[in-house]
Amino acid sequence: VILLIHPAARSDDDIPSDAELAAFNRTSFPSDFLFGAASSAFQYEDKIADGSNASNADEFYKLHQEDVSRIKHIGLDAFRISISWSRLILYVDNRPVLRRQGFEYYNNLINGLLNTSDGQRRVEPFVTLFHWDTPQVLEAKYGGFRNEAIVNDYVEYVNFCFKLFGDRVKYWVTFNEPHNFVGMGYATGQFAPGRCTPEFQYQYAFAVGRFDSSSQNCPEGNSGTEPYIVAHNILRAHAAAVELYRKNYKDSQKGKIGIVLNVDWLIPYDENNASDIQAVDRAFAFLFGWFMQPLYNGSYPAVMREYIGDRLPKFNRTESKMLNGSYDFLGLNYYTAGYAMDVECSKGPKNYYTDPCINITKQRNGKNIGPKSCSGWLYVYPRGIRELLLFTKNKYNNPEIYITENGFSTCNHGDINDKRRTAYHYHHLKFIKSVLPDVDGVEDAIEKNKNVKGYLLWSLLDDFEWNSGYTVEFGIIHVNYTKDSLDRKYKHSAMWYKHFLNPLLKEI
Ligand code: NOJ
Repeated sequence: VILLIHPAARSDDDIPSDAELAAFNRTSFPSDFLFGAASSAFQYEDKIADGSNASNADEFYKLHQEDVSRIKHIGLDAFRISISWSRLILYVDNRPVLRRQGFEYYNNLINGLLNTSDGQRRVEPFVTLFHWDTPQVLEAKYGGFRNEAIVNDYVEYVNFCFKLFGDRVKYWVTFNEPHNFVGMGYATGQFAPGRCTPEFQYQYAFAVGRFDSSSQNCPEGNSGTEPYIVAHNILRAHAAAVELYRKNYKDSQKGKIGIVLNVDWLIPYDENNASDIQAVDRAFAFLFGWFMQPLYNGSYPAVMREYIGDRLPKFNRTESKMLNGSYDFLGLNYYTAGYAMDVECSKGPKNYYTDPCINITKQRNGKNIGPKSCSGWLYVYPRGIRELLLFTKNKYNNPEIYITENGFSTCNHGDINDKRRTAYHYHHLKFIKSVLPDVDGVEDAIEKNKNVKGYLLWSLLDDFEWNSGYTVEFGIIHVNYTKDSLDRKYKHSAMWYKHFLNPLLKEI
C-alpha cells in the first residue's frame, strides 16, 4: 500500500525551510539555462563626466573588478549591465565622439566578466543600451525622446557599441522597460525628465498602484498625448537599431538582440464580471501590447486605437515592416501582480493612465494580493510569473524569453538575514521550473514553455532605486552607504543563490 501524504497546504510565499531550500537547485533546470543578476549604469556606477549624477551610487565604476569577483564567487552564468550613453559618447559640434575613459571602463568590465584565466568562470554579459539615462545634451537640444531626431542619434550611439564590444557581447537589449520610462518620465513625472500629463500635474490619480504623491509637484506639464509620442520614437529607435545590428553585425558577431519589457500579472477584480475580464485584456494591451504588438506585427493593439484615437501616432509602411519581428529574444521583467477593474472613463481630458478606463488595485475584499515589500507597488505574487510565461507564449507565438529582472525590496538597512528575499526568488524559480520541460525527460500534461532560457534577478547589489533613492534595497549583496568604502556583504539570499547554483558545495 502506498500512502500519499499531503503536506500541509502552504502558500506560494512562505519562507521555505532549510531542507526545502537545499532540495531545490539548478540541476532541475535544463543545463543551458542561464542564471544571473542584473544591474544598470545610472543606479550603480557613480557621477559621470558631465556632472549629472546619482551621487556615488555603488561606485561600481571604481569597484567593478571586485564586484566581478563576487559575481564569480556566487557562480552566476550571466550578468546584465547597461551602457551609459553619456559616459561613452561626447557630442562635439553635434557629432558623436568616443570618450576614451568610458570606452575603457566598459571594455574592462566586459573583459572581466568573460575572463577565464586562472580557472575563472566565464560570465555572459547581457548589455542594455538604454536604461533611462538620456544624455542631457540631447534633452536640451531637441527634447530627447519627444523628438524623432533621437532615432538617428540613438542609432549612431548603438553603432559604436556594436562595433566596440560586439565581438564579445552576445546579448543586446535596445531598451529597458519603455513602459515605465514613458509612464514615470512623461505621465506621472516622477522620473527624469519629470514631465507629466495634465491630470498628474494637479492631483494624484491612480496608476498601476505604484505612484506616490510626489507626482503632485511635477512642474513640467504636457499635453496628454506626449507619452504616446515618446513611446513611438522609442519603438522607431528600437527597430532601427535592430535593423542595423542584423545588417552589419549579426552574421559576423553571432549575437542576439531584443528588448526588455515590464509586465505585471493582472487578474480581474471580479472574476465573474465580463467588464472586469475585458479590463484585464485592455490593461495588458496598454501595459504589454503597446510595445510588444508593434514588435510582433508592426501595429498598435486595436483597443488602444479605439480608446486613444488619433492621439496614438501611426507607423508608416516602412516603419511597420521594420518593427515586425524585430527581436531575437524578449526580456521580461516580472515583479508583481494586481487586480484590474473596469471603471467609468474620465470626463475630462484623457491621459495616459486613465485613457483605458481601468483601475488597478492590490487589494480585493480587504485582502492584499500577496505580502508587501518595501516598495508600495511590489506585492509578492510568484504564480504570476508562470501565468505570464504561458500567456506570452500563446499570445506572441512562442518567443525566446529571458527573465531579465525579478526581485524583492526590503527596507532593513543593514539586515543581511533577508530570508524573505530568498523565499521570493525560490518561489518564482519554482514557478518558472513548472513551465520548463522536465530534465529527466518525463513530460507531464500541463502546459509548458520551453523557450524560457534564463533568469536574472534584480539585483546583485543594493543600489540607487530611482525616486526612492537608497531607502529601498533590492540587492542580494548589501552595500553599506554609511561608509565611504561602501563595503559589500553577502546576504542570506546571496548564500542561498550560491548553493542553488553550486549544489555540490558544502561550505561557503
Ligand atoms: C525595473 C528597472 O529596470 C530597475 O531599474 C529598477 O531598479 C527595478 N525595476 C526595481 O524597481
